[in-house]
Formats: sequence, structure tokens, C-alpha cells
Amino acid sequence: MKRRNFTAAALAAAAFVAALPALAQDNTFKIGLILPMSGQQATTGRQIEAAARLYMAQNGDTVAGKKIQLIVKDDTSLPDATRRLAQELVVNDKVNVLAGFGITPSALATAPIATQSKTPMVVMAAATSSITEASPYIVRTSFTLPQASVALADWAPKNGIKKVVTLVSDYGPGIDAEKFFKERLIFNGGQVTESLRVPMRNPDFAPFLQKVRDGKPDALFVFVPSGAGAAVMKQFLERGMDKAGIKLIGTGDVTDDDQLNDMGDGALGVVTSHHYSAAHPSALNKKFVAAFEKANKGMRPNFMAVGGYDGMRVIYEALRAAKTTGKAMPTGDAVLAAMKGQIFESPRGKMFIDAQTRDVVQDIYLRKVEKKDGQLHNVEFDVIKDVKDPGKTK
Ligand code: PHB
Repeated sequence: MKRRNFTAAALAAAAFVAALPALAQDNTFKIGLILPMSGQQATTGRQIEAAARLYMAQNGDTVAGKKIQLIVKDDTSLPDATRRLAQELVVNDKVNVLAGFGITPSALATAPIATQSKTPMVVMAAATSSITEASPYIVRTSFTLPQASVALADWAPKNGIKKVVTLVSDYGPGIDAEKFFKERLIFNGGQVTESLRVPMRNPDFAPFLQKVRDGKPDALFVFVPSGAGAAVMKQFLERGMDKAGIKLIGTGDVTDDDQLNDMGDGALGVVTSHHYSAAHPSALNKKFVAAFEKANKGMRPNFMAVGGYDGMRVIYEALRAAKTTGKAMPTGDAVLAAMKGQIFESPRGKMFIDAQTRDVVQDIYLRKVEKKDGQLHNVEFDVIKDVKDPGKTK
């Protein structure tokens, strides 16, 4: 009797020890963060990684008894690399969530992997309207170009801008910006006299700007992805477009907070519409900007950073709320369900994940570049509340 008890206890102990690595494994909730950390979109990766790490430093790395592990991968903004890394993260690392996605082609390339593996995919940067329709597992915490563009097309004709030339990067978000800006401007009695598209990779704006100058519109509307704004601004000023009476307007990607302060006084007065400015005057944003700058040698957070920060919030709160049905780790479906419908105050303002579209509903601000304390900022002067993506067909 005694001997049998001893054997049973020893066996139980051995089984427990054998299960330990599995238990430790089961208790780690893994986030695979795929970003462009090098190449043309490297600033996006740098901003989002810094924001994700700040969120974790402020909120701890244990949520609902699970240890959070962030696995960062550099896709160099090449969609084939994004897809391969996503595949490896799902199959080998068994990540619970995929996140990041600096550009639209990277998000679209990964969507089928999210669907097949039932892994929630949080798009923190890419902003073509249709992305959320590419997989039912996609949730977006950035913005959409139609969302940002329409507000500016309402503002422009009321402010003496009737004749506009558009200049956009020739891929998803640029084509969205062009279409939605143009349709709304025409609806408001304005006119788009020419629509120019520049290559997304290594663009040379000079020949396009010369053409714009010759056409003498009231304004040039620009969309270029985060990181390319400073080059547009430089060439716009070098060609004396402002002196020729042509105003530069655009979505906030062109006066990106990551670069704005280095653009010089020529940027003063540029009006843009966007969902985030580092100068947003809320208490929460002031705290966010100060903490971000402190943790990153003075780097100012841009709209990419806020997409990453809020994306982490959406993941943390989903994990906290997800039903685990008795298992150690909630399923991808349970985490996804708990992401839908989240509503909270972000550094950008009020933010809502629409449960139907899984896209972000948020305030869009009109902003003007002004100098405050010797620094260039996008200063908000008007707001359109609770803007849904106008690009959604359903
Ligand atoms: C995109 O590729 O979807 C994208 C990238 C950078 C932006 C906006 C959109 O600033």
C-alpha cells in the first residue's frame, strides 16, 4: 500500500515536471510585430516599435495572468517578406496576434494567412480603405485615406481653393486619397484640373511639380506615405510654387510629425487634415508625447506611433476581456471578438473599433503648420467628429 502510494506520487511528480515547459509555453501570449525597420519606410517601423514598447513599459507585460511577448520582425517594406515572416510567426512561433504592417501591400499579402490560421491581425499603419475587407480577422487602429481626405475637400472651397491639382503616390492609399478628395471637391463646386501619380518607390517629384506650376491651380493636394513628406516640401519650395500663389494642402502624411520640425519655415501655413497631431491639446496626449520623447531621445511621436500605441491597447484589453472557455489561452476567435466594439480615449481623441467593419471610427482634424515654442507643429483648428471610413461599401 505504502509502496504503491510512493510510486503514484513519483509518477505524478514526473508528469508535472514533464508538463512544465508546456505550461510555461501556454502561459505566454505572443504578438508578432512585423514592421519596415529598414528601407524607405523605416521611420514607420521605428515609430511603431517605440510606441509598442512604451505601451508595455507603462502597462506591464502581464495581462490576465498571461505573459506578453513581443516578437519584432523587419520586412524591409517588401510584401513577399511580410508574408513569409507572418507564416513563420504563425507556424513556428505560434503567435496569438499578428500586428504592424507599414504599407498596404504588406497588409494585403498577409491577410490570407490571418484568415487561414484564424489569427487576429492588427493593422497599425496601412491605410487603404479596402484592407479590412481582405480578411475577417483584420482590425485597424490607424486610419483610412478616404476618412482623412474628405474633410479637406469640404474645407478647401470655403477657403478660396476651387481649382486643385492632385499629386499622389501611385498605389492603394494614394488612389483612395485622389478619388475621395476629387469626388467631394466636385460635389462642393470645386474642380480638379489634373490628377498626377508618382511611383511609390524612389519618387522624383520635380517633373510633376513643374507641370503643376505651369497649370497655376489654387492649390496642390498631396498624398505621399509617411517619410516622403519632407522631399515633397523641399521641392515644392525650391520651385517657388508658394511664391507663384499655389497652396500646398494634403492629408497629414505630408506634414508628418516625424519630419515636420526639420522642414523649415517654408512649411508654415500648410493646411492638412488628419486623425493625429502631436500637438493635440488633450491631457492624455501631452502625457503620451512627453513619455514617448523621454523614452526615445526626444523623438516626436507621429501618427504611426499612435496607431501602434492604440493597437497594443486593443490587444491588451481584448486579452483581458476574452473568454477562455476553461482553456489556458483564449482562441484567436475569442481575442478577435473582444477587439470588436472597443471604445476608448486615445492620444488622438475618442476612438472606436466598429464591430461590423473592424475599422476605426475617429475624429478628423483640420490643422495648420504653426510655430509654437520655436518648433513647427500641426495645430488643430477644426474637428469633424466620429468619422467612419467613407470608403466602405457596406
Ligand atoms: C499605406 O501604404 O497604406 C500607407 C503608408 C503610409 C502612410 C499612409 C498609408 O502614411
